[in-house]
Amino acid sequence: MESSQFPFSTPSPVQKLTALPELDLYIKRDDLIHPVVSGNKWRKLKGFFEELPQGQAILTFGGPYSNHLPAAAFSAKFLGHPIIGIVRGEELNATSNANLAYCQSQGMKLHFISRSDYRELRNMGWQISSAQKELWEATHARTLPEGGAGTHAIEGCGEIWKELAEEPDHLVLASGTGTTVHGILHAMPENSKTHVHVVSAVKGAQRECAAVQATAQSKGIHLHWEDDLHFGGFGKWTPELLALRAQFESATGIPIDPNYNAKVLAYLHRQQLSGKVLWLHTGGVSF
Ligand SMILES: Cc1ncc(COP(=O)(O)O)c(C=O)c1O
Repeated sequence: MESSQFPFSTPSPVQKLTALPELDLYIKRDDLIHPVVSGNKWRKLKGFFEELPQGQAILTFGGPYSNHLPAAAFSAKFLGHPIIGIVRGEELNATSNANLAYCQSQGMKLHFISRSDYRELRNMGWQISSAQKELWEATHARTLPEGGAGTHAIEGCGEIWKELAEEPDHLVLASGTGTTVHGILHAMPENSKTHVHVVSAVKGAQRECAAVQATAQSKGIHLHWEDDLHFGGFGKWTPELLALRAQFESATGIPIDPNYNAKVLAYLHRQQLSGKVLWLHTGGVSF
């Protein structure tokens, strides 16, 4: 499908933020791309859907609170593709939470598997046996890895950088798998003046950190990986973090999720960055 037919608004706007007056701070509002396919989700999915033959079925994967599953479910429905979602957690069902209920309401067929089976699929790089495909009625489906990862996602996230009218002194963003920052680094010129600051929302993401650092180093880009502001790890936060987030939201009217962007906010409060600072709002939806 032609990308001009997609209902997602890019380029996303950049706005000046005065909520942290000690910083010359701007925010790139990827959260405004779409209410459900928010933030980096459409960046990661666009290339996949562009290359998909009409009506082609999709098989994808995620945890029960994944932002990826509802984004994929909405996009597939809108663009006319049947979609099957494999969810981590065999004890769950489509009514276990609002996230999963939304996926089902969009027509996604859900299958629930154990954490160990899910881990194995991930370790196998989402290579699915024909027996599993048959079981899930996904024989002809095209695999979309967890989180929408793939070369299409790297290219899509590179568009974030290409949309910038000027290079900031600092670019600050949250990371989970590191796909978003990888895409940005790929699009950046060698020896860019922009310092990239990555706030890991995940505890102990050494593998992701090493991969991202290696890419930055190979291009002569200065990158700081912050692994001390995960607030206990993915899906964890503290009353202080939630208070910081609430204060920011009431001052600006810009919603931020506690998993990723609130941790970036905590980093911006802590770090004394001088020069033009750009925060990439990577979205995040709660149902
Ligand atoms: C809202 C939000 N921000 C940031 C990220 C981290 O992105 P990545 O996994 O590409 O590092 C995610 C996960 O995809 C996310 O859902």
